[in-house]
Amino acid sequence: MKKGKKLYEGKAKIIYASPEKNSVIQHFKDDATAYNNQKKATIEGKGILNNRISEHILSSLSEIGIKNHLIKRLNMREQLVEFLDIIPIEFVIRNIATGSLTKRVGIEEGTILDFPLIEYCLKDDKLGDPIISQEHILNFKWLKKIEIDLINEQCLRINDFLQGMFKGIGIKLVDFKVEFGKTKSDEKIILADEISPDTCRLWDSKTDKKLDKDRFRNDLGEIIEGYQEVARRLGILHEQSNIRPIKFSKPTAVKIKKNK
Ligand code: TMP
Repeated sequence: MKKGKKLYEGKAKIIYASPEKNSVIQHFKDDATAYNNQKKATIEGKGILNNRISEHILSSLSEIGIKNHLIKRLNMREQLVEFLDIIPIEFVIRNIATGSLTKRVGIEEGTILDFPLIEYCLKDDKLGDPIISQEHILNFKWLKKIEIDLINEQCLRINDFLQGMFKGIGIKLVDFKVEFGKTKSDEKIILADEISPDTCRLWDSKTDKKLDKDRFRNDLGEIIEGYQEVARRLGILHEQSNIRPIKFSKPTAVKIKKNK
């Protein structure tokens, strides 16, 4: 499929116009950023893995009736997705306390939460994506109450499904971030963006080894190997010949280029 012009470039993805109506092409880059863009690197092969992992997860969610923007994967790095008006809020769902939660409220790292905690962050890099409450969302008319309720319900269903899926392959779903958008035609709210080791915290069930972007954030090394391990356990590494360029069995072949 022939790509149209670049519509938007984010930290880890680019959105291009598509020749098909009501759709755009989502391109997964190898770039990684953390701490509000202060830390940057290129992690060779990350985009390919995230494209495949996110395709697998969003297709599985579709099968249980969670509508989302994925139409089809086009190639190693690209997906055809529905063109949405993205809601400017990140929805974070947590099962185990870590990351910004532990820093913000002083709760001990690794505390298992009594029930899933949903947090809302305003998507605004200049402001550092601040945490906001439902009252902010209502007051500033980013969403209606009925829409927040619908999204919360979807977040809990997604969490339930993903927790089970990952448990089955020996991984704890610690937390994750999702985004939603409204369809252009009838303003229906559906899941957007990606679900991948860039947007989830995934710990090995036995050892608590981190298999996600925290390997980059916290300089733990073997970043791509963590992502590969997730893909391998999901059973999607060997299916496609077009992701062969990454040498999965030889971690030494992976280069991490530090940007200036
Ligand atoms: P946090 O502990 O840094 O707030 O992150 C919570 C979860 O949300 C974690 O799985 C990482 C994910 N996340 C993103 O995907 N993008 C972001 O910009 C941030 C801040 C977090």
